[in-house]
Amino acid sequence: MKRIAVIPGDGIGPEVLREAVRVLKHLQETKGLELEFVDFDWGAEKFLREGVTLPEGALDMLTTEFHAIFAGAFGDPRVASNKHAEDILLGMRRGLDLYINLRPVRLLHDRLTPLANRKTSDIDFVVFRENTEGAYCASGGFLKQGTADEIALQDEVNTRRGVERIIVAAFEYAHANGRKRVTMADKSNVQRFGGDLWQRVFKEVAAGYREITANHQYVDAMAMFMVLDPSQYDVIVSNNLFGDILTDLGAAIQGGLGLAASGNIHPGRVSLFEPVHGSAPPLAGKGIANPIGAILTSAMMLEYLGFQTLSKEIEAAVRAAISANETTRDLGGQLSTEQAGAAIIKRLAN
Ligand code: NAD
Ligand code: IPM
Ligand code: MN
Repeated sequence: MKRIAVIPGDGIGPEVLREAVRVLKHLQETKGLELEFVDFDWGAEKFLREGVTLPEGALDMLTTEFHAIFAGAFGDPRVASNKHAEDILLGMRRGLDLYINLRPVRLLHDRLTPLANRKTSDIDFVVFRENTEGAYCASGGFLKQGTADEIALQDEVNTRRGVERIIVAAFEYAHANGRKRVTMADKSNVQRFGGDLWQRVFKEVAAGYREITANHQYVDAMAMFMVLDPSQYDVIVSNNLFGDILTDLGAAIQGGLGLAASGNIHPGRVSLFEPVHGSAPPLAGKGIANPIGAILTSAMMLEYLGFQTLSKEIEAAVRAAISANETTRDLGGQLSTEQAGAAIIKRLAN
């Protein structure tokens, strides 16, 4: 029995997670998958009502009582500061030391990419985004705030340990999965200190993996090449901020944010799975959000929990529903969120 903490969150988060949990419950009924779900109402509503973001003791509770965390999205126009998302989402990433943000970029059907003449075989890579430091360290401050001479400082933290473990994770993944090339993206031509550390560590780690080509691109060039020639990528490793930006671009070339899955992982520990997209306020409450990102995220979570076969079955069902054009409108279909979920469940063998 695996225990899953479900945190639907804000906006379309609850709508897409509902479908993904339905998929998992279907597998429970038909395949004897043993999961127990416990819901948590952490998000904007609770914050506005009670002033509570990540409740006290939450991280200990998640660590001791759960095998995985399944989250929707956090972000609400009524919380301009984004304080609750910072506390809950970044709080779990940092507090549980989930240093790998694993974001696959895979084209599931030729027609989904906005890039001309690209096929499924051209777009198939995995991004390893550092997930605990970099520009996300919440360090900085104001001087002379509110005056014409105001100064805002925004720090970026790069630790030797943090840089090394994400680069090692990227090479280990490539090694274990027959991937031939790891490309690191940085801005070391400008960010001389952090960039220098990433460069040195990348070369040192790469030296231990002779069979894997270690490649480097500046992140601006990578953004261009991801559009012009995505077939060159196998595994990408980058810092927290660049990884964030590159994976929205990656989502776009695989068909949109509605499709992209992610895992926030510390191998061997309770880890957090969430779609790449956010709460998408313009779509919220309309029943039109694409649930596939959340459903593929549930497949990633099953893989992490050791249910490889069931994970692959979910992926196959998603592919089949896409092939039949039984999708939400962002992918050119006409279905509601719920109908799109049902179309995938229908394709899971009984
Ligand atoms: P977003 O990812 O929420 O949405 C951007 C656009 O992408 C949407 O307007 C929509 O057109 C499309 N989109 C996203 N998900 C979709 C889906 N499932 N189906 C169909 N189309 C989809 O990004 P944003 O608008 O920049 O951010 C909205 C809020 O979400 C902000 O508060 C932001 O901070 C937050 N956010 C949270 C997370 C997270 O919790 N992991 C991630 C990204 C953004
Ligand atoms: C993501 C999101 C988050 C991030 C925000 C909501 C803090 O954009 O998960 O990609 O920047 O990491
Ligand atoms: Mn993002």
